Order: sequence, then structure tokens, then C-alpha cells
Amino acid sequence: MADIAQVADNDYSIEVDDVTMIFNMASESLTNLKEYFIKLVRHELFFKEFRALRNISFKVRRGEVVGLVGTNGSGKSTMLKIIAGVLEPSEGTCRVRGNIAPLIELGAGFDPELTARENIYLNGALLGYTKEFIDANLQGIIDFAELHDFIDMPLKNFSSGMVARIAFAIATITEPDILIVDETLSVGDVFFQRKCEERIRHFIESGDVTVLFVSHDIEQVERICQRAIWIEKGDLRMDGPVGEVCEAYRNQFR
Ligand SMILES: Nc1ncnc2c1ncn2[C@@H]1O[C@H](COP(=O)(O)OP(=O)(O)OP(=O)(O)O)[C@@H](O)[C@H]1O
Ligand SMILES: [Mg+2]
Repeated sequence: MADIAQVADNDYSIEVDDVTMIFNMASESLTNLKEYFIKLVRHELFFKEFRALRNISFKVRRGEVVGLVGTNGSGKSTMLKIIAGVLEPSEGTCRVRGNIAPLIELGAGFDPELTARENIYLNGALLGYTKEFIDANLQGIIDFAELHDFIDMPLKNFSSGMVARIAFAIATITEPDILIVDETLSVGDVFFQRKCEERIRHFIESGDVTVLFVSHDIEQVERICQRAIWIEKGDLRMDGPVGEVCEAYRNQFR
């Protein structure tokens, strides 16, 4: 117990404190914009509040590899977006230390009209890489993503698995402080998944990269992560060693 108490604040890369996320959903369907504005002016527009996350708290230490599990629509992606700073929580706070490489939505940070090469520079810039850095690492990205002949093809002609390959290759070309992977690997084939797992494992061994990993492939979560957090319909159901949490998660379907 004593060593837990001695963990300094800055040993945590992520501190989620009592986070609640409320989305406003229109309580009736409106057919057009005119109707929307008339109702808005007349104060007849009503919203239903929807709580996607309720009072969620957890901390992640630097170098920890944490899986997030939960059934569809439970709030996993919402939680990751709050951590990545894409969404502001309605209540509570989220503190993050270090730079984040977020792989949250497939194709986010890409332009379908541009070629793969151009997208590598665009996405790299969004991650804070300089042009010189990408120049120096372009071949490494192409090799990892196995793009070779497709490098100058517009991204709109790529399969989703190929887009995922590029996204993962760019985000992991250097060691980020925090790597967030939201189902990005699931569209990749088994060979690419292995390759990504290997790279993540490499980060894990370095001990410096904090990884948040979401996948519906529970065996994959168990292979990669040490700890798992189960979020179910907006509530934090369980947080503990990956084996125990995944076992409980699987048991709910029995
Ligand atoms: N921008 C939004 N506006 C309204 N509701 C939203 C918004 N984003 C998410 N939600 C709702 O919040 C809930 C949680 O969604 P979220 O995408 O976080 O689930 P998830 O656990 O990632 O699910 P999945 O396993 O299917 O990816 C869902 O009911 C979803 O409809
Ligand atoms: Mg999701």
C-alpha cells in the first residue's frame, strides 16, 4: 500500500476525475432548417439530455497499457475523445501529461482528395512533425504501411484497411507519450494487426509510452494490455487486472 501512496502526481499521464458527458439530442425530428429556426425563435425547441458518461474517475500511470472494454454505445470513444481533447467534458476534469498520438476515428486528419504521400505530410503536420522530419521518415512509413505502389494514389481510392495502416504508421513513427488506439486495428488484416501489436509491445517494453487501447477483440485486449477498464452504458463497471476484467466482461453474456 505504501508505494501507491507515494506515487507522485506527475507519474500519472492521465487523470480522469468525475467526468460526466451529456449530449443534447433533439426530442423530435425536424424535417428542415426553416422549421428548426422557427422553433428556436419561438423557444419551442426541446432537447433530451443523454448521459454518455456518468461520473467516471480513473488514473493511468506513465507506461501503463490499459484496455477499454464495453458493449456498443457504452461511451468508450467518447471517453477517448475527452482524453485526446477533442471533446470537453460536461462535468469533471481530465488532465493529460505529454503529447498524444490519437488514432480515434478512421480517416480523421486525412483528406480523401489528396494522395497518400500528401496525406502523410498533412497528418504528420497535425501530429506536430516538421516537413524535414517526415522527409527523413517517409520511407519508414511507406514500408511499415506497405504502401509502395500506392503512394501517389488519391486516398479516396484506398480501402479502409489501407487508411488504417497509414494512420498507425504515422502516429507511431516516433514514440508518443500517450498512444490512443480506438479500434483502428480491427479493419486491418491479421498480418497487419500482428505488426501493430509488435510495435505496441515495443513501446510497452520501453516503459515510457502510455497506451489506451479499445477493441472488441477481447483476446487482443488480453494479449496487449495489463489492465482493463470496463465502461458499460456510461458507467464505470470495473477497473483492474486485464484477466479479471475481461473474464467478468465475457461472463455477462453467459
Ligand atoms: N456527438 C454526439 N451527439 C449525441 N450523442 C452522441 C455523440 N457522440 C456519441 N453519442 C452517443 O454516446 C453514446 C456513446 O457513444 P460512443 O461512441 O462513445 O460508444 P462506444 O463505446 O465507443 O461504442 P462502439 O463500441 O460502438 O464504438 C452512444 O449512445 C452515442 O450515440
Ligand atoms: Mg467507439
